[in-house]
Order: sequence, then C-alpha cells, then structure tokens
Amino acid sequence: MATILKLVGLTKDFGSVRALSNVSFELESGEIHCLVGENGAGKSTLIKILSGAIAPTGGAIHIHGEIFKSLTPALARKLETETIYQENIICPDMTAMENIYLGTEYRNGIFYDKKRTIVEAKKLIDTMEVDIEPLEILRNLSPAQQKVVQVLKAFVKKAKILILDEPTASFSMNEIETLLNIIKKVKLQGTGIIFISHHLDEVFKIADRVTVLKDGEIISTHKKGKYTSDILISDMTGREPSTFFKKRHHQAGEIVMEVKNFSRKNVVRNVSFNLKRGEVLGFAGMVGSGRSELARLIFGADKKTAGVLFMNDKEINIKNPHAAIKHGICFLPEDRKRDANVNYQSVADNIVISYINSISALFRNIRFEKKESKKYIDLLKIKTPSESNSINNLSGGNQQKVIMARWFLVNSQVFIFDEPTRGIDVGSKEEIYRLINELAEQGKSIIMISSELPELIAMSDRVLIMKNGTLVGEVTGSDINEETILSYSIGANKLVS
Ligand SMILES: Nc1ncnc2c1ncn2[C@@H]1O[C@H](COP(=O)(O)OP(=O)(O)OP(=O)(O)O)[C@@H](O)[C@H]1O
Ligand SMILES: [Mg+2]
Repeated sequence: MATILKLVGLTKDFGSVRALSNVSFELESGEIHCLVGENGAGKSTLIKILSGAIAPTGGAIHIHGEIFKSLTPALARKLETETIYQENIICPDMTAMENIYLGTEYRNGIFYDKKRTIVEAKKLIDTMEVDIEPLEILRNLSPAQQKVVQVLKAFVKKAKILILDEPTASFSMNEIETLLNIIKKVKLQGTGIIFISHHLDEVFKIADRVTVLKDGEIISTHKKGKYTSDILISDMTGREPSTFFKKRHHQAGEIVMEVKNFSRKNVVRNVSFNLKRGEVLGFAGMVGSGRSELARLIFGADKKTAGVLFMNDKEINIKNPHAAIKHGICFLPEDRKRDANVNYQSVADNIVISYINSISALFRNIRFEKKESKKYIDLLKIKTPSESNSINNLSGGNQQKVIMARWFLVNSQVFIFDEPTRGIDVGSKEEIYRLINELAEQGKSIIMISSELPELIAMSDRVLIMKNGTLVGEVTGSDINEETILSYSIGANKLVS
C-alpha cells in the first residue's frame, strides 16, 4: 500500500512547553492508524498541525509526495484532508443532507439538484446502515448522529486522509459500533484514517496499526495482532499496568436524599429514588435516556414541572445551582466546556473556585488554596508547567481533570458526577475512582452517571437504570453485571417494584 502521509522529525513548542519532539509518523492509504497516549501526550497538537490549525516549530510534512514545512486549513482541504474535532459541529442550522454534500451537491447544469441529492442521501444512509433523517436540521440530531454526518461528508468527498480526535466520547455502545462500522467502510474506499481514542477496546476493533505518544515523543508503533492492552498501557504510562481496579463495597447508612416524582415535560417522567449515606449509586441507560436531565433537575440547573426533594428528611426547594450547593449538593456536568465555566484563569483558580463559592469570603486562606491545588495537580497528574498557567493552555483531558478536582475540595454531602472519566487517560481514571471511593468512605453520597459499563459496575453499590426519561430497573449485588443492566436499558426486562 502507498504511504500518503509522512511526518519527519516534527517538533512543536508552545513557549517553554515542548508538546511534540522529533515525531516521525506514517499513514498509508486504506489504513486505520490509531494514536493513543496519556492526557497531554501531544495527540491533538499533532492533528492540529495536520489540519493546518497550527504550524510546527520544526520538521516536515510529506503528503502525496510533496513536502511542506506547515499547512493552512485551505491547503489541508486542497490536499483532501478532513479533520473531525471532538466538539465542532459543521453547520448546525443546515440539514444533515446539506452537511453531507457540502461542496459536492448534485447539480443539474449550474443548478443545485435537490431532488437528486435527496435520493442519493437516502441511498447512502441505507448502505451505511444508519438511522438518520436526511432533511433533519443537524442541531436536532444526537451527538452520535452528528458525528456520523461528518464522517459521511468525508466519505462522499472521497477524502484521502480522515482524522478523528476522540470521536466516540459519550457514545452508547451501539453508537460506537455504528461509527466504527462506517469508518471501516470509509477505509475500504482507500482513505487513510488517523483515529485518536482513550478506549483501547475501540483500538483493538479497528486499528491496522497503533502508535503510542508519550510526553510528545513516539514510544512505539505496533501492527494489528502484535500487541496487547498491557503493552499499550505500559508504553503509554511508562510503568507496568496495575491490576484492574478492584471493586470496593461501601457501608451504606441512612437515607440522605429522597427524590420524589421528579418530572420535566417528556424528558424526565415521574422519577423517584433515594440515596444513602456512604453509597455510590450508579445510573445506567442509553445516551438520551434522561440521566443527565434528571441530574440537572436535582441541581436546579433546569426547572422541574413536578416533584419534591428531601434532604435529611426535610423538604427543600432548590431554585438554582447556588441553592443546591448551599444545601450540600454538587454537580459535575457532562458538558464541562459549556456548563462548568472553564475560563481563562489559572489552573489553581479553576481548582478552588467552587470551594471559594461554598465558604464565606472572610474565611479564605490563600496558603491552603495553593497547597490544595498543588495536591490535586499532583494526584491527578495534571500536566501543566505550573499552577498559575492558564487552563486554556491545557490539553482536553487535563482541563477535565481540573474541573473534576474542584469538587473534591468542596465539603458537600451529595456529589453528582456525570461521566466523570470522559476524555481521561487510563492511569488517571484509576486515581479518580480512588478519590470517589474515599468520598464514600468519609460518608458522602455519590451519584455516578456513566456510559462506560465496566466502571459503573466496578464503582456502584447499587445501579438504577433509566430509559425514555423514567426509571426501568434497579440492581444490586451480583445482579450488577453487563447482561442484566443492558437488558433493562434496552427494555427487555420489566421494572422490578
Ligand atoms: N495553546 C497552547 N499553549 C500552551 N500549551 C499548549 C497549548 N496547546 C497544547 N499545549 C500543551 O501541549 C501538550 C500536548 O497537548 P495536546 O492537547 O496535544 O494533548 P493530547 O494528547 O491531545 O491530550 P488529551 O488526551 O488530554 O486530549 C500539553 O502539555 C498541553 O498543555
Ligand atoms: Mg486531545
């Protein structure tokens, strides 16, 4: 197979931070080359150079035999490279079809042939076996469907190179399968694909080759069938993989919080449950089953249309997040970028912000704040030159860790964590599990929403399952396993009363 992309000795410095160091990397046409590594390893920096968003400090990029010192977005497009970033939606107000055929619309003479484009879009969606209404506005589609639209766009254009940066974060298992299948079809067309993921099971499913980056350097490249997950983990972290996280059973005490008949339009319907002291209560369900929406109602981020909340047997009325924090309920939202107020301040300020909001300004203790922020930078291995660095300079996963650290500092009673390990590398995930277990051991109560069943199973003392906005099941003990939880999520089991 032909090499279509070759990076030779690529280096990138951000001020004093060396994000990439002498990186050499190759991509063949019709190959899926996965790129893995810890948070801050340099993966996104590498693809930003390839999409022309940033210029390297040194080295060369060979594409189709031509040599470049750097690219621009226009040049990358001309070289038929398509990049799919984690967050960006292409044109949210256009239909799925218009997005797919952007620049490749069918024409009748000089006129846009809408009828033909609709027919072709339907055919394409059929052959790809996806469930998308071509005339639906992109914004109304699920995040997974939006991602599929972007991949279909690259497919229709017959892109030479397709780059995906953590495309499956927050997808359900079915959605991941669908996306991986489409990517395989794009590959069959001869496109060379670079695929970044923190999920090693995805890597095993689709990679022809996998390259490990660590601290900006290439550590290893392995061919399909020639590596194990232990090899990848030890290449990524530089240490032997620890035995997978062991389940800890927490001593649950009395009921701390009671949610009764919570509803909001059709999103959350008549949900009731209780939460005990020292318990980790898992919430399973498909993406869109209403778990995050329920969490937002409890926290006062959205208004409920019905329902009452009891804390320590007293009815309380939470009108907004500020009131929730005052009553001892805190919430790590799923969409950190949008909801968690990531701002241009320093890493340290971002770690202590919720703590400061929860105490009286009179009690501020700068030395304590500094000590604590350093502690969490260390514990969660937040990659930053110093605690005074701006949070915006951190890699995606390291920003997530900063926002996560905020809540470990707050003296709250109930912690609601929505997808706490999203975008976080294998090694740091374990540290987060350990910190959550510590909270439970101190008698705090935790609600954990996660689409990653293995972590939900390993962490939860009890799991509630949601579907279409309502609770459809509750499992405890040995029933906390994949088969049982899945059968409730897809509706094969009836609600146990
Ligand atoms: N604009 C910037 N200014 C300063 N430093 C930056 C900038 N962008 C990235 N860095 C640094 O470069 C390094 C590599 O970051 P990069 O985003 O490439 O990591 P990554 O491998 O994609 O990590 P993640 O898995 O967390 O997404 C990090 O140490 C990061 O802090
Ligand atoms: Mg990244």
